[in-house]
Amino acid sequence: MSLRGYLRQYKNHLRPLINSYRRPEGEVYAADKYWEDLWSSADNHTDAESTGISDTQLQYYYRLMEAKILEHLIVQDYDIKGRPVLDIGSGGGQWIQFWNWMESSPVTGIEISESAVQGLKSSFRDDNDIHIREGDIVTADLSESNFGIISAIEVVQHIVDDQRWEKAVANICYTLQSGGIGFVSGWFGKLNHDLWYTPDTPDIDFHTSFSLNRDKAAKRTRSRKQWKQTLEKHGCKIEVIHRIDAAASIFTPPPRLLVFKKSE
Ligand SMILES: C[S@@+](CC[C@H](N)C(=O)[O-])C[C@H]1O[C@@H](n2cnc3c(N)ncnc32)[C@H](O)[C@@H]1O
Repeated sequence: MSLRGYLRQYKNHLRPLINSYRRPEGEVYAADKYWEDLWSSADNHTDAESTGISDTQLQYYYRLMEAKILEHLIVQDYDIKGRPVLDIGSGGGQWIQFWNWMESSPVTGIEISESAVQGLKSSFRDDNDIHIREGDIVTADLSESNFGIISAIEVVQHIVDDQRWEKAVANICYTLQSGGIGFVSGWFGKLNHDLWYTPDTPDIDFHTSFSLNRDKAAKRTRSRKQWKQTLEKHGCKIEVIHRIDAAASIFTPPPRLLVFKKSE
């Protein structure tokens, strides 16, 4: 590898990894402001704008992810019709639409961004079985709910602070019915890893977001081990981690799907 290639690799991968372990306390992005800035500046409420990849790529990813979720449900013989669903970080509404198509009901979407919530309420205004809530999954009061299915696709890794992340996992497990299942996307590797360094301005430039002098990570991926321990601490258990089989030349958001279950 050329020196330039090596340095680029260092910049893109090693430096954020080192930062993950020496990030001083407090250097965490403000999630509510970050997402509200992003959604309020979006021309229309599509998730491609929030992820920085093309619509075609995003639809490709969604189809692969949907197929994997359906495959899991079929193989496990898990009947989702009429099951109450919670979709976390609903964004443009992709997963609300998916669960609605599958005739799960009611479908509740929770979103931290007020602008995204307005878009979702407008998109699903004619469907009485779809409920949209504005809130942060870390602090939302879900004590009166009990869901058979929970999805959080490309969301939980955006909770960077470790204590907030554990509270989110606890809240998710708490509100899942006994025997209910959860789907979260991510990497689930061997190490925790900070990613997606953001500038202080709301307009993120995805392709330059790994810059060395930006220290506010907008993503922190947790290791498989950390997921396992935290889920088990809160009454859930990993069933399987599926790999999403995208073509090697096509970039997609997180390529793995972790499925967990609440103890019966
Ligand atoms: C990358 S987008 C993914 C959107 C959608 N799940 C999808 O797959 O198309 C992440 C979404 O999660 C929302 N979000 C981030 N942190 C959240 C939190 N703590 N509670 C609820 N929603 C959150 C953001 O506003 C954003 O809409």
